[in-house]
Order: sequence, then structure tokens, then C-alpha cells
Amino acid sequence: MDPSRDAPPLVVENLTKRFRRGEVVIDALRGVSLVVQRGEFVAVMGASGSGKSTLLHVVAGLTPPDDGRVLVDGHDLAAMADRHRTAFRRRHIGLVFQAFNLIPTLTAEQNILLPILADKRLGVDNGRLEDLIAWLGLAGRRSHRPDALSGGEQQRVAIARALVTDPTLILADEPTGSLDSVAGQELCRLLNEQCREHGRTIVLVTHEPSVAAWATRVVVLRDGQVLSQFATAEFGDAHALAAHYHDIVRPAPVTNA
Ligand SMILES: Nc1ncnc2c1ncn2[C@@H]1O[C@H](COP(=O)(O)OP(=O)(O)OP(=O)(O)O)[C@@H](O)[C@H]1O
Ligand SMILES: [Mg+2]
Repeated sequence: MDPSRDAPPLVVENLTKRFRRGEVVIDALRGVSLVVQRGEFVAVMGASGSGKSTLLHVVAGLTPPDDGRVLVDGHDLAAMADRHRTAFRRRHIGLVFQAFNLIPTLTAEQNILLPILADKRLGVDNGRLEDLIAWLGLAGRRSHRPDALSGGEQQRVAIARALVTDPTLILADEPTGSLDSVAGQELCRLLNEQCREHGRTIVLVTHEPSVAAWATRVVVLRDGQVLSQFATAEFGDAHALAAHYHDIVRPAPVTNA
């Protein structure tokens, strides 16, 4: 039986991850569970050090968990051999980071095609490539190298590279972190459109309520645990969402009983 048929794109079960730095032990994830359904756009928020990037890296199979499971399309990443996991990630997961991680000597189009060129089993779908380039407004930029592209354009190339394999799941760690607010909002609009119109599934880490407002659901981490979750539809705009988020993460007042 193919486990991917009816499985949600992402199931995270009771994930724990502990780092040791000399004598110091850091519990980066302490029992995180999360189910993300097809077409959902989940924003992961939380203070610096709350475990957001660790969660994304474990979900992507880049960091092994100490305990718990990650199922992508019903497949358990930790149970795979390294080579199988790398191939699975390339075919099923699109990754986008704050640093665009483009190869400076390649053109925009060559950068977009990298995951396909790295995998003999994946073929270039020219229609798909053309659609992506047009949709991301990169038509006049395809033969430019990264140093001739703006930050927003470089990140759109990185998004196209993440989408070119038609992945089940897109994972993005602060993708707007190096962009000005106009380019950041444009990127969010494009990601939101991918979910609404193409049924894609996105998990995006951000500090910014104005970015999280484009998601369907916000998951707030604190000290490696899920502190709270809420649907963005409960809030009229990014300001209301920001106010709610700050209420959640505000430390409880110290009372002298
Ligand atoms: N490779 C590592 N070795 C040791 N400690 C680590 C490692 N990666 C993360 N940590 C620690 O785990 C905790 C969670 O880190 P993580 O990077 O997931 O936080 P974050 O929520 O992404 O923070 P930020 O918003 O600053 O990016 C932090 O205390 C961090 O110092
Ligand atoms: Mg981080």
C-alpha cells in the first residue's frame, strides 16, 4: 500500500531534539506535535531560540530527532537510509532559507533547474518551468547571474527552485528576513497564492506578524514546545494578529504571593 495516498503532507509526533555544547545541554524541541493538511499555510512563530529552525531542520530530515517521528506524505524520514532520504527530500520537499543559497556562477534559470539536474529520475517539465518563471516575474531575468538580481528577485529564484520538482511540502525559514517590506509582502502573496490556488502545503518560520498574516494558521513555540495555535482568519488584519501574538508571548507577570 502506498502510504502517501491519504496521509496528510506533514505529521510531526512528539518530536524531541537535544543539543550538547560541552557541559551545557539545550532542549531545543521538547515534545512538539503538529499535523499540517494539504493546502494549509502554517506560520511558525516564537522568540529567538524557541526552536523554530530546529523544528524545520528536523522536519526536512537535515537534523535527526532524538525522539518522536516526522511523516512526510506518510513516509518516515528517520527510517530511511541517508541516500534514500536525500532523494526523498529532493523530490518531496522544497526548501527556502533566509540566505537565498544560489550558486553565483549559474544563471537564474540554471539555479532553478538545479534539483532536477542533480537527480537522474527527475526530468525537466518545460511547461512547468515556463509557468514558474512567468508567474514569479522572472522572464527578463532568466540568464542573469545572482549578483545581477535584486534581493527580491534572488528569493523568487530560490522559490522557483523549491517548486520546480512539484514538492508535497514547502519549508521556509525566515524567507523574507533579508528583503525589504515591499519585496517581503510580494513573496508572501505569491506563497499564499500557491496554497489557495494550487493546494500546496507550506510551513514558514517568521518573526514578523505581517508575514504570518498571510498564513492560514499560526503555531507559536516557546522553549521547544507548542505554546499556542490559532487561525489567522480570527483576526481582521496584521495589526490585530500582532497584538494577539504579543499577548501570547508576553511573559507572565511575576506575582508575590
Ligand atoms: N547545532 C546546534 N548546536 C547546539 N545548540 C543548538 C544548535 N542549533 C540550535 N541550538 C540551540 O537550540 C535552541 C533553539 O535554536 P533554534 O535555532 O531552533 O531557534 P530559533 O527559534 O530558530 O531562533 P531564531 O529566531 O534566533 O532563529 C537555541 O538555544 C540554540 O542555541
Ligand atoms: Mg531560526
